[in-house]
Amino acid sequence: MDDAVELSWGARCAGLAFFSLSIFLVALAAVLLLVRRWPNPWCGCHVCRAYLTGSWAKDFTNLADWYAHLLRESPTGTVHFHVLGCTVTANPANVEYMLKTRFDNFPKGRRFAALLGDLLGAGIFNFDSKFCAAADVLPDGTYVEGESRVMYHPYAMGRMPSIWGADYEAFRPDRWLTGPGGSFAPANLYKYPVFQAGLRVCLGKELAITEMKVVGVAVVKAFDVEVVGEHGRSGWAPTFVPGLTASISGGLPVRIIKRTLTPNSGFT
Ligand code: HEM
Repeated sequence: MDDAVELSWGARCAGLAFFSLSIFLVALAAVLLLVRRWPNPWCGCHVCRAYLTGSWAKDFTNLADWYAHLLRESPTGTVHFHVLGCTVTANPANVEYMLKTRFDNFPKGRRFAALLGDLLGAGIFNFDSKFCAAADVLPDGTYVEGESRVMYHPYAMGRMPSIWGADYEAFRPDRWLTGPGGSFAPANLYKYPVFQAGLRVCLGKELAITEMKVVGVAVVKAFDVEVVGEHGRSGWAPTFVPGLTASISGGLPVRIIKRTLTPNSGFT
């Protein structure tokens, strides 16, 4: 028995129209989602192009190194990523403004606020960056739109000649031994905000520094630690894994050599 029902011409047209409308709405939703996620998805500036095409990876191992390069190049120490609707700064005056002067206008990211707000209170854990609540102008003259993303970049700030001088890449610990009798004088926290700065400095800062000193005394004094890289290669650049902390992809292979104690000079 043949149960097939022959649809009228009008019903077929209505079905086709409904199908086409559904496809159109899905496509429209996708475009709106894209626009919401990337506020300016068609920006053609060299920063946005390099970001979207991934061409930055030709010259830099880590995204953070490319950011640091852009921030060093910027006369104000601030860069806009238009496709992300994000302002990134390494300018200490901006950092002070965001973390102290106008703290309330730069709340933490929404995702973390939703997740951890009840537990941790307002204003902390901006690992998914800060937002600018109402349009504002940073001390370096940068205009930031309301509801846009703003972040300071501690990694880049540790690599800025404008903050540390032309030899910013040199391992020269004495740059911090400027206190009385060559004692340690901590850098201004807005220049070096690894523990954040301003109204909500990391509560574990002193404990973390003590832990580092313990490692310095127990390990560095007794062992030589040489980074050997993958398969023993030297001159190997570690690749950071994007995340809450700067862990290294595949770990950090090192060679450990125990130091020997000599009668006159202690450890060698
Ligand atoms: C090297 C180690 C550490 C680093 C680099 C670090 C860094 C930071 C940073 C950047 C923030 C601000 C987060 C934000 O709002 O975006 C923060 C907040 C905080 N950290 Fe740490 N931290 C370290 C270790 C610790 C330890 C060991 C503890 C606890 C024993 C701790 C407890 C806290 C707490 C409670 C806050 C929230 C402070 C507040 O908003 O009032 N941290 N930390």
